[in-house]
Amino acid sequence: MSLEQEKIVILDFGSQYTQLIARRVRESKVYSEIHPFNISFEKLAGLNPRGIILSGGPSNVYDEAAPIIEKRVFEMGIPILGICYGMQLTCHLLEGKVEPHNKREYGKADLVIDNNDDLFKGFSSGEAIQVWMSHGDRAAELPSGFEAVAHSDNCPYAAVRNAAKGIYGVQFHPEVVHTPRGVQILENFIFNICGCSPTWTMKSFIQQSIEEIRARVGDRKVICGCSGGVDSTVAAVLIDKAIGKQLTSIFVDNGVLRKNEFVSVSTMLKDAFHINLVAVDASQRFLKLLDGVEDPEKKRKIIGNEFINVFDEEAGKLGTIDFLAQGTLYPDVIESVSFKGPSATIKSHHNVGGLPEKMNLELLEPFRELFKDEVREIGKELGIPDEFIHRQPFPGPGLAIRILGPVNPVDLELLRESDAIIIEEFKANDLYYKVWQSFAVLLPVKTVGVMGDERTYEKVIALRCVESRDGMTADWVNVPYDILGKISNRIINEVKGVNRVVYDISSKPPSTIEWE
Ligand code: XMP
Repeated sequence: MSLEQEKIVILDFGSQYTQLIARRVRESKVYSEIHPFNISFEKLAGLNPRGIILSGGPSNVYDEAAPIIEKRVFEMGIPILGICYGMQLTCHLLEGKVEPHNKREYGKADLVIDNNDDLFKGFSSGEAIQVWMSHGDRAAELPSGFEAVAHSDNCPYAAVRNAAKGIYGVQFHPEVVHTPRGVQILENFIFNICGCSPTWTMKSFIQQSIEEIRARVGDRKVICGCSGGVDSTVAAVLIDKAIGKQLTSIFVDNGVLRKNEFVSVSTMLKDAFHINLVAVDASQRFLKLLDGVEDPEKKRKIIGNEFINVFDEEAGKLGTIDFLAQGTLYPDVIESVSFKGPSATIKSHHNVGGLPEKMNLELLEPFRELFKDEVREIGKELGIPDEFIHRQPFPGPGLAIRILGPVNPVDLELLRESDAIIIEEFKANDLYYKVWQSFAVLLPVKTVGVMGDERTYEKVIALRCVESRDGMTADWVNVPYDILGKISNRIINEVKGVNRVVYDISSKPPSTIEWE
């Protein structure tokens, strides 16, 4: 994003909620960026933020290794809001006193508003609101010039300010849903105190991004690996809007895609969006290499390497290429750099890892600063159908890691057909878009059954269906029995070679979402 964009900078002290703060600010239509706490003072000043939020974090300010910032950050004349550890650090650096409290406060608490001038504008003085606390230490003495603007039973300085300097602190977490009016508090900070206006929209992002891509690419050429997933597809459509035929997208059928996937995604990109797409059916090459392979890590490696080979060959036919476009998202970028600092390496996209170096390409990543929800919104703005934008995640190594045993064409077909039935039934019953993932796994065992007068000895399909926010943790879904029954009936009747369906009732952790 260009420097003229009004922005709030969030300095990360290692809180699990840092990304949430950024998302809340953006949901209020103000652009926000996360930076490691140890960003240099000059770089921070160069970002020209309208306001700075200091995140929470697991440290204690008086520890020797505590993450701290330079004191002159507080002298920049830029409004600052410290959250939890961020507030304690503010007190500590400005010569107040922070001390361990004998009672750790964790969970919901009642916050009583004492002053509704600025941070609590729109609240009533004396009003009690629910907030989420999670701290051991707390401010015991405020720095000079500071006063309390809210308190709780356990915490006399639950929200503080130095209004003259525009420095604020809250001991609770306004960014989490357990602080129901937290958004209002954050908006008071970003709009009333920092003076931002709500202009950050995906429409404005698209326009700006198109200009930036044009300026950067000039008359050079770009290739994009389309996986059929949301991020790479939206990236391809956006970049196509910017540079048209200078972009070539490559979509490889690796033989382990879902039923009809290759044709339906290629058709959509070519016919509806007129993307310059090379659709390569390399399924036989992949299947030959995968034949009989049992070890999931081996399957992943084979698929990843062969993808690079196919991609490299296809790109070789296009003449000189300068850029590789990827749908890298903000969480991939900040996960690795934010708290560990600028020296940490950035995670590369698993499907094309190693490609940029091998082919000597510059990366073009228009969504490096965006969250998944924002990419979905862009897709919607660009006219990509809803059912595509909200499709469930699908792993790069595809059906290969859902066959718990050696990959072979017969089992792949069993799995692909069973999976298609599950998708169909979940869609028909209005469940597909409500869950994180719902899919079939083929177990490497045979069980006995009876069909007519015959005993059968056939395969087992496990149905996996989970809800999750980000795939890091997940709960199995309470799918109604009649839907489970219908799916089981259909798979056993329609997929020859399967005589039993079971439902996976394990959560993550300790289980994982995929079985391999
Ligand atoms: P697990 O099984 O680790 O899955 O609980 C978490 C999320 O990651 C997806 N997943 C993968 N995606 N390549 C991918 O692109 C993989 O090898 C892979 N393994 C798991 C999984 O589908 C879930 O959404």
